[in-house]
Amino acid sequence: MKSNALSCINMNLLKALPLTLALATASSAAPLIKETIVTGLQDPMEVAIAPDGNLFVIEREGRVVRVNPQTGGLFDIGTIPVEHLKETHADSSYAREDGMLGIAIDPDFEKNQCIYLYYSAADIIANRLSRFTLKDGKIDPASELKLLEIPTERENRVCHHGGSVEFGPDGLLYVSTGDNTNPFESAGFAPIDDRDGRTERDAQRSAGNTNDLRGKVLRIKPTEEGYEIPAGNLFKPGTANTRPEIYVMGCRNPFRISIDSKTNSLYWGEVGPDARGESNNGPRGHDEVNQAKEAGNFGWPFVIADNKPYPIRDFANNSLGKMTDPAAPVNPGQRNTGLKNLPPAQPALIWYTYNNSEEFPVMGKGSRNAMAGPVFYFDSSRKHNILGKEDDRTLLTYDWMRGRIFKAKLDANEKLEKLEGFIEKLVHPMDLEMDKDGSLVLLEYGSGWYFNRNGSVSRLRPDDGNKLPTITIKPTGGVANSYSVDQANDPENGKITITWYLTEGVTERNLGTGSTAVVPEGSFQEIRAVATDDKGARGFARISLDHSKVLLPLALDLGKADGEPGFGDQLKFKVSAEKAPDPAIITVRARYIAPTGHDAGGAQFSTDISKLAKANQCFACHQISVASVGPSYLDVSLKYRGQHDPGKYLHNKLKTGGAGVWGKIPMPPQIALKQEDADKLVAAILGLSDGISQSKGSLEGTIKLAPAYGADPGGAWEISAEAPGYAPAKQRIPAK
Ligand code: HEC
Repeated sequence: MKSNALSCINMNLLKALPLTLALATASSAAPLIKETIVTGLQDPMEVAIAPDGNLFVIEREGRVVRVNPQTGGLFDIGTIPVEHLKETHADSSYAREDGMLGIAIDPDFEKNQCIYLYYSAADIIANRLSRFTLKDGKIDPASELKLLEIPTERENRVCHHGGSVEFGPDGLLYVSTGDNTNPFESAGFAPIDDRDGRTERDAQRSAGNTNDLRGKVLRIKPTEEGYEIPAGNLFKPGTANTRPEIYVMGCRNPFRISIDSKTNSLYWGEVGPDARGESNNGPRGHDEVNQAKEAGNFGWPFVIADNKPYPIRDFANNSLGKMTDPAAPVNPGQRNTGLKNLPPAQPALIWYTYNNSEEFPVMGKGSRNAMAGPVFYFDSSRKHNILGKEDDRTLLTYDWMRGRIFKAKLDANEKLEKLEGFIEKLVHPMDLEMDKDGSLVLLEYGSGWYFNRNGSVSRLRPDDGNKLPTITIKPTGGVANSYSVDQANDPENGKITITWYLTEGVTERNLGTGSTAVVPEGSFQEIRAVATDDKGARGFARISLDHSKVLLPLALDLGKADGEPGFGDQLKFKVSAEKAPDPAIITVRARYIAPTGHDAGGAQFSTDISKLAKANQCFACHQISVASVGPSYLDVSLKYRGQHDPGKYLHNKLKTGGAGVWGKIPMPPQIALKQEDADKLVAAILGLSDGISQSKGSLEGTIKLAPAYGADPGGAWEISAEAPGYAPAKQRIPAK
């Protein structure tokens, strides 16, 4: 029997969450109703809709699932080995944003059962686009046809892999790739660090390089044996120092793309750099929503937003060279293997900063992560139209951080006519697709940056006034293998029908209708009840039938604060689980996440400090946030925060070594450590607790949020509860 930890968690979520949410819409449009089909997904990355309506979803760590939106069935159809960040090493600087990245379904899927996956290969250091064929409903690993392998870097906190895969109505396959660059060491401006040894900080080698497939949207025509180059890409095949697969170049992190179903125009959200203000080093950071009606260069890392240029910065002398000319950008990088003179830069369709936007005030302010969804066309022959006739030709763009969807109305020439808010309060919207019937399929990633277990797939459709039924189920008391309805409710008090399903591998068995169901002999993964009202609206409930590998989830309740909590405030918490854990093993941590586009995932050293610690063997006995032979550095930092001159004490302790503060094991004197390096390490260790506080050893209490430390306010607090042997709980709340 296969483990299905998700379903067990689903059930707990079902208890805690109302299944239906009337969505907050931010304009005059009719509100939409949201039917949550599946919850409990682990970092879902992209969804693709098969011709028969089935939904294929990928998870960051490599699993591919099929979802039957009619029955709520979730079928594990295979796991591809991928390189990815692991929960046990959450603060690793290796492969931070790698994983299973994108999925598309072959236009001829009904005939050929082919799907395309884009992922960080585990066997080589490259991102790979492959075609797989399903056999008996499962991915056949032997069927893999490798189409593209794009060498990549994974060390030194590089980010940005893009990864969206889509077919256009022209039958061509589009894949977005990121600049694969560390954005943290160029002060939020252009990462064009040309110094030796700074490869990972130089996007001139990738996004700005006509001879490299990173930082691009590629366009190919898949064939039986591989692919061909379609006409109209950016460089004619055979042009020296260019790659013919490139359709769009000059992208930083084109995360979610979409292609207009009528005009074939390409849209993508471009997640932009972090600079909060302008300086001589260039413009402030902008996210962009882009439109390409034809092949082009969209400027990164030399130009941003509406063609605001960066100067060519000399990182060695910290001096500024020539300002880029957007009409004739030049790539002077020593790692550039392509053309020096680049095609003219194209401006974005929409661009916005962390601050209120002058050009597009409706975008709001705060953290940002732009994504592009489908273009809506009004079609009266379709079951649903989520917008009115007057909104014909409207691009739906969304923002992962802001949890919002926007309506970008386009005119007949596809020029932006009007930009309005549409839907709010989504939990990290990760992908948005339009189904054949005109409804939207929405993927929500879950509340955290990584390791979510509350990702979900839902359907958004116009609100016809009929509310969704709700249902919960439980094992029938005293009867083996029997399950019954705990509670089922139709808000309109109409009749509801309850149908039971059993998941058996990649198929499901209909057990009939009624208030109870009996599970026959056999091996099954899940029992599920679907409540359907007389208008066809549905609610789902599920219980996992495989308890062998399920970690009990912790639940975290936070006390209601007056308004949004700020630095230094107290927050009440209560941790519980079906089987209460020993309080001694509980850690509750509150972490401030500043309102920038990046979250490093926890306390972390800079690359240079990491190197220093590695060179001096500190990591042999210490980890950043988990105790090992020695205390975790985060614990050290929290212990001495606010004390008088802890640096001096710790500096001496490194010299002398000794035991007794954290336990009986002594630290050997660090005699080989240079004085100045000791100072650097101690300062970095003490800085780790910036924005972080924790409570250990109690299930219930208050946690004092970290004192202010110079980060910008207005971000979020992530509160987490952890205990060995339990699945952690995490919540994110907006900060004052
Ligand atoms: C062989 C194992 C070992 C190595 C190597 C090691 N440590 Fe430690 N470290 C310990 C132990 C054990 C303690 C706890 C000592 C105690 O309880 O007083 C400790 C404690 C500390 C403390 C807290 C001291 C206090 O009194 O609170 C700091 C800071 C620290 N180590 C930094 C470092 C740094 C930096 C390096 C590398 C240059 C390093 N350690 C290398 C084992 C080690």
